[in-house]
Amino acid sequence: MGLPGATAQAFTFLLILLGEQLAASTFKICAFNIRSFGKAKAANQKVMGALVQILSRCDISAVQEVRDSKGSAIRMLLREMNRHDSSHHYGFLESKRLGRGSYKEQNVFVYRTDVVSVTDWCQLGEDDSRAFEAFAREPFAARFHSPTTVVSDFVLLLHHASPREAVRELDLLFGVCMELVQRWKTQNLMVLGDLNAAGTYISARAWARIRLRNHLAFHWLIGDKEDTTVSHRTCCAYDRIIVHGEELLGAVVPRSAKPFNFTQALGLSEEEALEISDHYPVEVNLRLAPKAQREL
Ligand SMILES: *[C@@H]1O[C@H](CO)[C@@H](O)[C@H](O)[C@H]1NC(C)=O
Repeated sequence: MGLPGATAQAFTFLLILLGEQLAASTFKICAFNIRSFGKAKAANQKVMGALVQILSRCDISAVQEVRDSKGSAIRMLLREMNRHDSSHHYGFLESKRLGRGSYKEQNVFVYRTDVVSVTDWCQLGEDDSRAFEAFAREPFAARFHSPTTVVSDFVLLLHHASPREAVRELDLLFGVCMELVQRWKTQNLMVLGDLNAAGTYISARAWARIRLRNHLAFHWLIGDKEDTTVSHRTCCAYDRIIVHGEELLGAVVPRSAKPFNFTQALGLSEEEALEISDHYPVEVNLRLAPKAQREL
């Protein structure tokens, strides 16, 4: 005997609610190259509206290609996010302005200050001239304390690799990770960002030389076949999430690591989506500790 129509409908609705509840009871981290985010984009309401929707889904967003010498664009973004999502408060931590020539950009962590805090950070190249010479733009690392996740202490290493130097820089990131593991006495580390780790920037043979790729402690969660580009003409996994350490790997929600297709999610045309960025964010969910789940 089947369920009466109304009961079945109510049941379906309950399942949907439950699904949303389950999805909400995780901790989301993303990395997003917002192509040339500066004054012009901050002044574009449509673009800002979309960015706010995309970023306010995440507990921590590792934002890249911030091109904003006065710092006004990122402040406007934070103001809009705080206005849009009153259930959280968003703050940010920015790298220095990176780049050797006159072209500069910044990496910025945008995060929910009511959920997670920054306990330390490290701008590579600041106190170490070797790193400065090694990277076109030095990586930026922050250590987070997150009381609700199964792993409460972890490091995010954010990097925007130079396309032409991607092989060398990816390999060097291995050494940076080892230094951070020593410095902060933790194995829980995640490398994320637009690593240009695909397409013609990395030949099939070059992969074998990249320690970050081949060392067993590193787990590449965004696979080579993924497409992190918005354009229909390209299909490349430039943007990656790589987890170091078994404990942090165990905290990842299975199959949660993927690009976020905002063209689809926001119902945009390709042209509209490209106004926001040429990259999709890549994201991953961490499991919450049982206690935190009960409290929700
Ligand atoms: C993203 O979604 C759009 C619209 O549904 C689709 O045309 C496109 O192929 C998707 N891109 C990727 C990389 O999945």
